[in-house]
Amino acid sequence: MSAGLGAGATPALALSKAKPSPRAAIPFGAAIRVDLLRDDLDYRRAVLGNCQLVVGEGGLKWIDLRPQENQFVFDHPDRLLAFADANGMRMRGHTLAWYAGMPKWTEAIKTKKAAEHALYEHIDTVVGRYKGRIPSWDVVNEAISDNPAIEKPMRRSIWQDLLGTQHIDMAFRRTAAVDPQAQLVLNDFGFENPTDQCRAKRTAFLRLVKELKDRDVPVHAIGLQGHLPGEKEIDRDGISRFVAELHGMGLAILVTELDVIDDKLPADSLVRDEIVAMRAEAFLQAIGDVCRPEAVLTWGITDKFTWVPIWFSRKDGRPNRPLPLDANYRPKPMMRVINEFTRARP
Ligand code: XIL
Repeated sequence: MSAGLGAGATPALALSKAKPSPRAAIPFGAAIRVDLLRDDLDYRRAVLGNCQLVVGEGGLKWIDLRPQENQFVFDHPDRLLAFADANGMRMRGHTLAWYAGMPKWTEAIKTKKAAEHALYEHIDTVVGRYKGRIPSWDVVNEAISDNPAIEKPMRRSIWQDLLGTQHIDMAFRRTAAVDPQAQLVLNDFGFENPTDQCRAKRTAFLRLVKELKDRDVPVHAIGLQGHLPGEKEIDRDGISRFVAELHGMGLAILVTELDVIDDKLPADSLVRDEIVAMRAEAFLQAIGDVCRPEAVLTWGITDKFTWVPIWFSRKDGRPNRPLPLDANYRPKPMMRVINEFTRARP
Protein backbone atom coordinates (compact mmCIF):
# COMPACT_ATOMS: atom_id res chain seq x y z
CA MET A 1 0.00 0.00 0.00
CA SER A 2 2.68 2.46 1.00
CA ALA A 3 4.97 1.76 -1.94
CA GLY A 4 4.33 3.83 -5.01
CA LEU A 5 2.90 6.83 -3.20
CA GLY A 6 4.84 9.79 -4.50
CA ALA A 7 5.40 12.86 -2.36
CA GLY A 8 2.20 14.85 -2.16
CA ALA A 9 0.05 12.05 -3.61
CA THR A 10 -3.29 11.46 -1.93
CA PRO A 11 -3.44 8.13 -0.13
CA ALA A 12 -5.95 5.77 -1.69
CA LEU A 13 -7.38 2.45 -0.67
CA ALA A 14 -5.34 0.33 -3.05
CA LEU A 15 -5.48 -3.43 -2.82
CA SER A 16 -2.19 -3.83 -4.58
CA LYS A 17 0.82 -1.70 -5.30
CA ALA A 18 -0.16 -1.21 -8.91
CA LYS A 19 -2.39 1.82 -9.51
CA PRO A 20 -5.86 0.44 -10.16
CA SER A 21 -7.30 1.24 -13.57
CA PRO A 22 -10.64 3.08 -13.50
CA ARG A 23 -12.19 -0.03 -15.00
CA ALA A 24 -10.75 -2.44 -12.43
CA ALA A 25 -13.05 -4.34 -10.11
CA ILE A 26 -14.09 -2.39 -7.03
CA PRO A 27 -12.98 -4.17 -3.86
CA PHE A 28 -15.91 -5.50 -1.88
CA GLY A 29 -15.95 -6.12 1.84
CA ALA A 30 -18.04 -6.38 4.98
CA ALA A 31 -18.15 -5.50 8.64
CA ILE A 32 -16.98 -8.51 10.60
CA ARG A 33 -17.65 -9.94 14.06
CA VAL A 34 -14.28 -11.46 14.69
CA ASP A 35 -15.44 -14.23 17.05
CA LEU A 36 -17.63 -15.64 14.30
CA LEU A 37 -14.63 -16.12 12.03
CA ARG A 38 -13.46 -18.68 14.57
CA ASP A 39 -16.80 -20.09 15.75
CA ASP A 40 -18.91 -20.31 12.60
CA LEU A 41 -17.32 -22.09 9.68
CA ASP A 42 -20.02 -21.03 7.21
CA TYR A 43 -19.50 -17.41 8.21
CA ARG A 44 -15.76 -17.73 7.74
CA ARG A 45 -16.28 -19.31 4.33
CA ALA A 46 -18.69 -16.56 3.29
CA VAL A 47 -16.15 -13.90 4.20
CA LEU A 48 -13.30 -15.73 2.48
CA GLY A 49 -15.40 -16.36 -0.61
CA ASN A 50 -16.72 -12.84 -1.07
CA CYS A 51 -14.55 -10.21 0.58
CA GLN A 52 -11.39 -8.40 -0.37
CA LEU A 53 -11.87 -5.93 2.48
CA VAL A 54 -12.88 -6.27 6.11
CA VAL A 55 -13.73 -3.79 8.84
CA GLY A 56 -14.46 -4.63 12.45
CA GLU A 57 -18.14 -4.14 13.28
CA GLY A 58 -16.74 -3.30 16.70
CA GLY A 59 -13.29 -3.76 18.14
CA LEU A 60 -11.78 -0.38 17.32
CA LYS A 61 -14.61 1.59 18.89
CA TRP A 62 -13.68 3.28 22.15
CA ILE A 63 -16.11 1.17 24.10
CA ASP A 64 -14.45 -2.05 22.95
CA LEU A 65 -10.88 -0.88 22.89
CA ARG A 66 -10.84 1.12 26.11
CA PRO A 67 -12.87 -0.41 28.95
CA GLN A 68 -10.71 1.59 31.40
CA GLU A 69 -8.91 4.85 30.93
CA ASN A 70 -5.46 3.30 31.07
CA GLN A 71 -6.23 0.08 29.26
CA PHE A 72 -6.25 -0.66 25.54
CA VAL A 73 -7.59 -4.08 24.49
CA PHE A 74 -6.35 -4.80 20.99
CA ASP A 75 -7.36 -8.44 20.86
CA HIS A 76 -10.20 -8.12 18.32
CA PRO A 77 -8.59 -5.73 15.85
CA ASP A 78 -5.31 -7.67 16.07
CA ARG A 79 -7.13 -10.88 15.21
CA LEU A 80 -9.05 -9.32 12.35
CA LEU A 81 -5.89 -7.82 10.91
CA ALA A 82 -4.09 -11.15 11.17
CA PHE A 83 -7.02 -12.80 9.36
CA ALA A 84 -6.94 -10.14 6.64
CA ASP A 85 -3.18 -10.41 6.20
CA ALA A 86 -3.27 -14.20 6.09
CA ASN A 87 -5.93 -14.15 3.38
CA GLY A 88 -4.79 -11.35 1.12
CA MET A 89 -7.43 -8.88 2.28
CA ARG A 90 -7.11 -5.31 3.53
CA MET A 91 -8.64 -4.06 6.75
CA ARG A 92 -10.27 -0.66 7.20
CA GLY A 93 -10.25 1.07 10.60
CA HIS A 94 -13.55 2.16 12.15
CA THR A 95 -13.55 4.60 13.93
CA LEU A 96 -11.45 7.15 15.88
CA ALA A 97 -13.94 9.86 16.86
CA TRP A 98 -17.65 9.11 17.19
CA TYR A 99 -20.43 10.38 19.44
CA ALA A 100 -21.64 6.88 20.30
CA GLY A 101 -19.92 3.83 21.71
CA MET A 102 -18.06 5.76 24.37
CA PRO A 103 -17.15 4.01 27.63
CA LYS A 104 -18.60 5.36 30.87
CA TRP A 105 -15.25 6.64 32.17
CA THR A 106 -15.07 9.21 29.36
CA GLU A 107 -17.92 11.10 31.04
CA ALA A 108 -15.28 12.38 33.44
CA ILE A 109 -13.60 14.25 30.58
CA LYS A 110 -14.90 17.75 31.19
CA THR A 111 -12.41 20.26 29.86
CA LYS A 112 -11.07 21.22 26.49
CA LYS A 113 -7.59 20.32 27.58
CA ALA A 114 -8.62 16.88 28.82
CA ALA A 115 -10.55 16.19 25.61
CA GLU A 116 -7.62 17.19 23.46
CA HIS A 117 -5.30 15.01 25.49
CA ALA A 118 -7.67 12.02 25.28
CA LEU A 119 -8.22 12.36 21.53
CA TYR A 120 -4.53 12.72 20.73
CA GLU A 121 -3.49 9.92 23.06
CA HIS A 122 -6.07 7.67 21.44
CA ILE A 123 -4.98 8.43 17.88
CA ASP A 124 -1.28 8.16 18.72
CA THR A 125 -1.78 4.78 20.35
CA VAL A 126 -4.25 3.21 17.95
CA VAL A 127 -3.15 4.59 14.60
CA GLY A 128 0.46 4.24 15.71
CA ARG A 129 0.00 0.56 16.46
CA TYR A 130 -1.41 -0.19 13.01
CA LYS A 131 0.69 2.28 11.04
CA GLY A 132 1.28 1.02 7.50
CA ARG A 133 -1.03 -1.95 8.09
CA ILE A 134 -4.51 -0.39 8.16
CA PRO A 135 -4.59 1.58 4.90
CA SER A 136 -7.85 3.45 5.42
CA TRP A 137 -9.48 4.97 8.52
CA ASP A 138 -12.92 6.35 9.29
CA VAL A 139 -11.34 9.15 11.28
CA VAL A 140 -14.56 10.91 12.24
CA ASN A 141 -17.93 9.17 12.14
CA GLU A 142 -21.39 10.75 11.97
CA ALA A 143 -20.41 14.34 12.77
CA ILE A 144 -23.52 15.97 11.28
CA SER A 145 -26.71 15.92 13.32
CA ASP A 146 -29.85 14.06 12.26
CA ASN A 147 -31.79 17.26 11.63
CA PRO A 148 -29.08 19.77 10.89
CA ALA A 149 -30.22 23.34 11.34
CA ILE A 150 -28.28 25.93 9.33
CA GLU A 151 -26.94 27.57 12.47
CA LYS A 152 -26.35 24.30 14.33
CA PRO A 153 -25.38 21.51 11.95
CA MET A 154 -23.10 19.45 14.17
CA ARG A 155 -24.13 16.44 16.22
CA ARG A 156 -23.44 16.62 19.91
CA SER A 157 -20.63 14.44 21.16
CA ILE A 158 -17.98 14.66 23.80
CA TRP A 159 -15.65 15.97 21.07
CA GLN A 160 -18.05 18.51 19.62
CA ASP A 161 -19.13 19.73 23.05
CA LEU A 162 -15.62 20.26 24.38
CA LEU A 163 -13.59 21.07 21.27
CA GLY A 164 -16.13 22.32 18.76
CA THR A 165 -15.98 21.50 15.06
CA GLN A 166 -12.25 21.97 15.39
CA HIS A 167 -12.16 18.41 16.77
CA ILE A 168 -12.48 17.19 13.18
CA ASP A 169 -9.44 19.19 12.09
CA MET A 170 -7.55 17.89 15.10
CA ALA A 171 -8.45 14.26 14.51
CA PHE A 172 -7.55 14.31 10.81
CA ARG A 173 -4.33 16.25 11.28
CA ARG A 174 -3.15 14.02 14.08
CA THR A 175 -3.99 10.83 12.18
CA ALA A 176 -2.13 12.12 9.12
CA ALA A 177 0.87 12.95 11.29
CA VAL A 178 0.94 9.48 12.82
CA ASP A 179 0.38 7.57 9.57
CA PRO A 180 1.00 9.79 6.52
CA GLN A 181 0.27 6.92 4.13
CA ALA A 182 -3.21 6.18 5.42
CA GLN A 183 -6.35 7.21 3.59
CA LEU A 184 -8.40 9.41 5.93
CA VAL A 185 -12.15 9.22 5.58
CA LEU A 186 -15.03 11.33 6.87
CA ASN A 187 -17.91 8.89 7.27
CA ASP A 188 -21.62 9.70 7.57
CA PHE A 189 -25.16 8.58 6.71
CA GLY A 190 -28.63 9.84 5.90
CA PHE A 191 -28.10 11.35 2.44
CA GLU A 192 -30.09 9.05 0.23
CA ASN A 193 -33.76 9.98 0.06
CA PRO A 194 -35.77 12.77 -1.58
CA THR A 195 -36.70 14.24 1.80
CA ASP A 196 -36.05 17.61 3.41
CA GLN A 197 -34.10 15.86 6.13
CA CYS A 198 -31.70 14.23 3.65
CA ARG A 199 -31.37 17.43 1.65
CA ALA A 200 -30.51 19.36 4.81
CA LYS A 201 -27.97 16.74 5.74
CA ARG A 202 -26.32 16.87 2.32
CA THR A 203 -26.15 20.66 2.48
CA ALA A 204 -24.66 20.68 5.97
CA PHE A 205 -22.20 17.95 5.08
CA LEU A 206 -21.02 19.72 1.92
CA ARG A 207 -20.55 22.93 3.84
CA LEU A 208 -18.47 21.14 6.47
CA VAL A 209 -16.31 19.41 3.85
CA LYS A 210 -15.71 22.71 2.03
CA GLU A 211 -14.63 24.33 5.27
CA LEU A 212 -12.30 21.46 6.03
CA LYS A 213 -10.77 21.67 2.55
CA ASP A 214 -10.39 25.46 2.90
CA ARG A 215 -8.45 24.87 6.09
CA ASP A 216 -6.30 22.22 4.34
CA VAL A 217 -7.46 19.49 6.66
CA PRO A 218 -6.19 16.17 5.23
CA VAL A 219 -9.54 14.58 4.38
CA HIS A 220 -8.92 12.18 1.48
CA ALA A 221 -12.23 10.46 1.02
CA ILE A 222 -15.87 10.43 1.98
CA GLY A 223 -17.52 7.34 3.40
CA LEU A 224 -21.17 7.07 2.48
CA GLN A 225 -22.48 4.54 4.97
CA GLY A 226 -25.57 3.59 2.99
CA HIS A 227 -27.91 2.34 5.70
CA LEU A 228 -30.83 2.70 3.31
CA PRO A 229 -34.38 2.92 4.66
CA GLY A 230 -36.08 0.29 2.47
CA GLU A 231 -39.49 1.97 2.36
CA LYS A 232 -38.13 5.23 0.91
CA GLU A 233 -37.25 6.05 -2.68
CA ILE A 234 -33.63 6.66 -3.52
CA ASP A 235 -32.98 10.25 -4.64
CA ARG A 236 -30.78 9.34 -7.59
CA ASP A 237 -30.31 12.86 -8.89
CA GLY A 238 -29.75 14.27 -5.42
CA ILE A 239 -27.10 11.66 -4.63
CA SER A 240 -25.37 12.11 -7.99
CA ARG A 241 -25.18 15.88 -7.51
CA PHE A 242 -23.90 15.42 -3.98
CA VAL A 243 -21.23 12.93 -5.06
CA ALA A 244 -20.24 15.17 -7.99
CA GLU A 245 -19.61 18.05 -5.58
CA LEU A 246 -17.51 15.89 -3.30
CA HIS A 247 -15.64 14.33 -6.18
CA GLY A 248 -15.06 17.81 -7.61
CA MET A 249 -13.26 18.71 -4.38
CA GLY A 250 -10.80 15.91 -5.12
CA LEU A 251 -12.30 13.43 -2.70
CA ALA A 252 -12.60 9.71 -3.30
CA ILE A 253 -15.89 8.01 -2.44
CA LEU A 254 -16.28 4.80 -0.45
CA VAL A 255 -19.51 2.99 0.34
CA THR A 256 -18.73 1.91 3.87
CA GLU A 257 -21.76 0.34 5.59
CA LEU A 258 -24.34 -0.67 3.02
CA ASP A 259 -27.50 -2.47 4.13
CA VAL A 260 -31.21 -1.97 3.54
CA ILE A 261 -33.33 -1.45 6.62
CA ASP A 262 -36.39 -3.57 5.95
CA ASP A 263 -38.57 -3.13 9.04
CA LYS A 264 -41.28 -1.36 7.04
CA LEU A 265 -41.11 -3.56 3.92
CA PRO A 266 -43.64 -6.27 3.03
CA ALA A 267 -43.43 -9.54 4.96
CA ASP A 268 -42.99 -11.82 1.94
CA SER A 269 -39.28 -12.54 1.73
CA LEU A 270 -39.07 -12.77 -2.06
CA VAL A 271 -40.77 -9.41 -2.44
CA ARG A 272 -38.67 -7.95 0.34
CA ASP A 273 -35.41 -9.22 -1.15
CA GLU A 274 -36.28 -7.65 -4.50
CA ILE A 275 -36.95 -4.26 -2.93
CA VAL A 276 -33.76 -4.49 -0.88
CA ALA A 277 -31.77 -5.23 -4.05
CA MET A 278 -33.51 -2.45 -5.95
CA ARG A 279 -32.65 0.16 -3.28
CA ALA A 280 -29.02 -0.95 -3.15
CA GLU A 281 -28.83 -0.84 -6.94
CA ALA A 282 -30.33 2.65 -7.24
CA PHE A 283 -27.96 3.94 -4.55
CA LEU A 284 -24.86 2.39 -6.12
CA GLN A 285 -25.81 3.51 -9.60
CA ALA A 286 -26.41 7.09 -8.44
CA ILE A 287 -22.81 7.11 -7.21
CA GLY A 288 -21.50 5.13 -10.18
CA ASP A 289 -23.01 7.64 -12.61
CA VAL A 290 -20.47 10.14 -11.27
CA CYS A 291 -17.42 8.09 -10.28
CA ARG A 292 -16.29 4.61 -9.38
CA PRO A 293 -16.21 4.30 -5.60
CA GLU A 294 -12.93 2.95 -4.24
CA ALA A 295 -14.67 0.31 -2.17
CA VAL A 296 -18.07 -1.11 -1.37
CA LEU A 297 -18.58 -2.60 2.07
CA THR A 298 -21.78 -3.95 3.58
CA TRP A 299 -22.44 -3.77 7.33
CA GLY A 300 -22.33 -7.53 7.84
CA ILE A 301 -22.46 -10.21 5.19
CA THR A 302 -25.35 -12.48 6.22
CA ASP A 303 -28.86 -11.79 7.52
CA LYS A 304 -27.97 -14.19 10.33
CA PHE A 305 -25.78 -11.54 11.97
CA THR A 306 -26.90 -7.94 11.55
CA TRP A 307 -27.20 -4.89 13.73
CA VAL A 308 -30.52 -3.92 12.10
CA PRO A 309 -32.87 -5.59 14.64
CA ILE A 310 -31.23 -3.67 17.50
CA TRP A 311 -32.98 -0.53 16.23
CA PHE A 312 -35.28 -1.66 13.42
CA SER A 313 -36.85 -5.00 14.32
CA ARG A 314 -40.06 -5.84 12.46
CA LYS A 315 -43.47 -5.50 14.11
CA ASP A 316 -44.52 -8.87 12.62
CA GLY A 317 -41.63 -10.59 14.39
CA ARG A 318 -40.06 -11.84 11.15
CA PRO A 319 -36.28 -11.64 10.96
CA ASN A 320 -34.71 -8.73 9.10
CA ARG A 321 -33.16 -9.38 5.68
CA PRO A 322 -30.87 -6.37 5.07
CA LEU A 323 -27.72 -8.03 3.70
CA PRO A 324 -26.39 -9.75 0.55
CA LEU A 325 -26.50 -13.32 1.90
CA ASP A 326 -29.53 -14.80 3.64
CA ALA A 327 -29.38 -16.43 7.08
CA ASN A 328 -28.33 -19.69 5.41
CA TYR A 329 -25.56 -17.97 3.47
CA ARG A 330 -27.36 -18.19 0.15
CA PRO A 331 -26.82 -15.19 -2.11
CA LYS A 332 -29.83 -12.89 -2.44
CA PRO A 333 -30.59 -10.49 -5.29
CA MET A 334 -28.61 -7.82 -3.42
CA MET A 335 -25.46 -9.92 -3.87
CA ARG A 336 -26.04 -10.00 -7.62
CA VAL A 337 -26.42 -6.23 -7.65
CA ILE A 338 -23.16 -5.78 -5.79
CA ASN A 339 -21.29 -8.27 -7.97
CA GLU A 340 -22.54 -6.58 -11.11
CA PHE A 341 -21.66 -3.12 -9.80
CA THR A 342 -18.18 -4.00 -8.54
CA ARG A 343 -16.98 -6.23 -11.39
CA ALA A 344 -14.22 -5.09 -13.70
CA ARG A 345 -15.41 -3.27 -16.81
CA PRO A 346 -14.19 -4.69 -20.11
C1 XIL B 1 -23.18 -0.65 15.17
C2 XIL B 1 -22.82 -2.13 15.27
O1 XIL B 1 -23.27 -2.79 14.14
C3 XIL B 1 -23.40 -2.69 16.52
O2 XIL B 1 -23.02 -4.05 16.66
C4 XIL B 1 -22.91 -1.84 17.70
O3 XIL B 1 -23.38 -2.28 18.86
C5 XIL B 1 -23.32 -0.40 17.52
O4 XIL B 1 -22.80 0.07 16.32
N1 XIL B 1 -23.26 3.33 11.96
C6 XIL B 1 -21.96 3.04 12.28
C7 XIL B 1 -21.63 1.75 12.93
O5 XIL B 1 -21.05 3.80 11.94
O6 XIL B 1 -20.52 1.84 13.78
C8 XIL B 1 -22.82 1.19 13.68
O7 XIL B 1 -22.46 -0.11 14.09
C9 XIL B 1 -24.05 1.17 12.80
C10 XIL B 1 -24.41 2.54 12.34
